[in-house]
Amino acid sequence: MISFMKASVLLAFAAATPASSQYVYNYYMFHDFRNLDAPTTEPARINNDAESSAATVQEGYLTDALFTNDWGIETWGSPAGPNAPYRKQYSNGNVYIQRDPSSGLSHLTLRATRNTDFISSGEIDTKLSNILHASINVRFRVRGDPGACAGVFTYFNNENESDIEVLTQDPKTTIRYTNQPGLDADGNEIPGASVAATMLDGASWDEWHTHRLDWTPDLSSWYLDGQLAHTKTYGIPREPSTVILNMWGDGGPLWTGDMAVGAAAYMEIEYIEIYYNLA
Ligand SMILES: *[C@@H]1O[C@H](CO)[C@@H](O)[C@H](O)[C@H]1NC(C)=O
Repeated sequence: MISFMKASVLLAFAAATPASSQYVYNYYMFHDFRNLDAPTTEPARINNDAESSAATVQEGYLTDALFTNDWGIETWGSPAGPNAPYRKQYSNGNVYIQRDPSSGLSHLTLRATRNTDFISSGEIDTKLSNILHASINVRFRVRGDPGACAGVFTYFNNENESDIEVLTQDPKTTIRYTNQPGLDADGNEIPGASVAATMLDGASWDEWHTHRLDWTPDLSSWYLDGQLAHTKTYGIPREPSTVILNMWGDGGPLWTGDMAVGAAAYMEIEYIEIYYNLA
C-alpha cells in the first residue's frame, strides 16, 4: 500500500507546516467535478414531500461507480423541534452536477430551498464510516439566501464531530470552525468549541477557495487555501467516523437562522480530496 505524506503532496511552504501536517495517511480519495458533461440549468425545486421522495439521482457522474463506491446521496429527514421551527428533508433532487457557462467548468451542487412545509436539503456521506483521522480538502463556494448552513464535517455522534461550516446569514467573510459538542446540557455555548473566524486575506465564502480540515489524534487544524487558519485541542473526535457534506436549514434561531419561503442557497463543490486512515 502506498503511504501519502500529506506535507509533501500539498504544502509548498514547509516552514509554515504544523506538526499535524506531517501525519501520514494510508488511503486517498479524490472526486473532481470540474470537467463533467452537465446541464447549465438548475433542476426543478422540491416543493413537497411527494416531489422530494420521487426525485431520482441525476444520471451521469452521480450514478457512476466512481462516485457511488465512495459516496451515498442521503434522503433522511428530521422533524421540527424546540430549536428547529421547520422540518428538514434531504432529497436526491438537491444533489446535482451543473456547469457554469461563464467559466465552462462544472461542479457538484448541494441545494437547500424553503417551501411552505419544510426545508428541502442536500447531503452526501462517505460509504466508509470507519475513517479515523483525515485531511479533508474541499474546493467550494456558497451562495444564495440567508437561513442555510453549508457543512464539511466528520461525524460519529454529537460529541465526536469536527466541522467547517458556512452560515448564509453570516457576513461573507465569516466561517465557523467547530469541534462538537458546541453546547452544554443546559444549551449554553462551551468556550473554545466553536469559533466564528474571519476568513484569511479578506477571502469570502461566495468565491472559490480550498477549505481543509486536518483531524489528527492530538490536534484539529483548519486551513484556507493552504494557510493555517485555526487549531483546537478541545473535543478532538475519538471515534471512527463518516465524512459528510451538506446544505441544510431548519429555521433554528441558534444556528442557521430563518429561511424565507421561496428562498434558496447553494453549496457548489469543484472537488473533494481526502487523505485518511481507517480504524
Ligand atoms: C465520543 O463518543 C464517546 C462515546 O462513544 C464519548 O464517550 C466521548 O465523550 C465522545 N467525545 C470525545 C471527544 O471523545
